[in-house]
Amino acid sequence: MKTQTINFGFWKKIREKAAGLKRPIFVLAPLANVTDAAFRQIIAKYSRMGEPDGGPDVIWTEFVSADGLCSPGREVLLRDLAYSKGEHPIVAQLFTAHPEKMREAAALCAQLGFDGVDINMGCPDRSVEKQCAGAAMIKDPKTARKIIEAAREGAGTVPVSVKTRIGYNKNEINTWIRFLLGLQLPVLTVHLRTRKEMSEVPAHWGLMPEIIRLRDEVQAAIPVNERTIIIGNGDVMNLEDARAKISTNAGLDGSLAADGVMFGRAIFGNPWLFDERRNKIGTGANISIPTISERLNACLEHTELFEKLLGDVKSFAIMKKHYKAYVSGWDGAKELRIKLMETENAAQVGAIIENVLLELDRPRERV
Ligand SMILES: Cc1cc2nc3c(=O)[nH]c(=O)nc-3n(C[C@H](O)[C@H](O)[C@H](O)COP(=O)(O)O)c2cc1C
Repeated sequence: MKTQTINFGFWKKIREKAAGLKRPIFVLAPLANVTDAAFRQIIAKYSRMGEPDGGPDVIWTEFVSADGLCSPGREVLLRDLAYSKGEHPIVAQLFTAHPEKMREAAALCAQLGFDGVDINMGCPDRSVEKQCAGAAMIKDPKTARKIIEAAREGAGTVPVSVKTRIGYNKNEINTWIRFLLGLQLPVLTVHLRTRKEMSEVPAHWGLMPEIIRLRDEVQAAIPVNERTIIIGNGDVMNLEDARAKISTNAGLDGSLAADGVMFGRAIFGNPWLFDERRNKIGTGANISIPTISERLNACLEHTELFEKLLGDVKSFAIMKKHYKAYVSGWDGAKELRIKLMETENAAQVGAIIENVLLELDRPRERV
């Protein structure tokens, strides 16, 4: 394999920056109906993306159907691909089993200014698998290869990555992951569970050394710093936890460490997740857990942005799913949450939250 055939695009800088800071690459996972245009913007702001000690290094969009993007229904789906300036670098995630749709959708993403295109090859959702996409790709490497090739043709110079799982019914690292590692991907994100395991067992971080060893075997002809970037995913709670999961499974000399970590559910109710300054655990004065008023302010700002950007295409119920995470862990949180769950729009949420902030003697922060 020739080194120059791997198209890293913006990932080259991301790798160099993380290496310079002697830390792993930290990225935000695609979470359908969670990391939508509104929440991504809130995360980029509160985690201080692009600033020193801020993050994430890269943001993923929710997955979007390539078939849908090539259909008359495209306008609504384009709203899932909306992003703000502060979210660069941003990767659009697509799924389909039709190479020609992937080609067209990837070209569209490049045109829309995305820094990368990622292909979903791990989603266990029935509706996605029925289309032979998502995790179904694990059972059909021939089509997977065609989909990746089509995405590259469409995306042009924009790098194309893959997110997958360790296997379908069992550990298939030595076949499925080996196959993917032979395809010159700049980045491979591995959710460390099988399709069958869904999210019901702890993620197998102990398998990361097997993946890294395999990468280094399959890509032995490539200089170490130019091999596929491996990002591990599953059950990571915060930045400290990410470092612990990586170092515990890095081998004695650290050579088997994953290059990065993808954070999914940990972002619920915690848009500060990637801010190193707020998340230093065990360092005394640096500990800065968001206060109740900060959380309520962020919750309200998020709600208002959701209504502004997506109110005409998404049900308000999607926004309300966040309240359980934003509003928990203090006396009276449950009662407040119940009230918020009865709301139907941002104005109602605003009236309730502003009242609570006044009771806390912390009137709403205007930003
Ligand atoms: C609500 C929800 C939506 C998700 N949507 C996507 C998606 O659009 N694309 C994808 O590749 N994975 C999706 N996933 C999987 C996550 O990206 C991630 O792989 C999984 O949650 C494990 O990581 P975590 O333990 O850090 O949450 C979703 C997971 C959840 C809980």
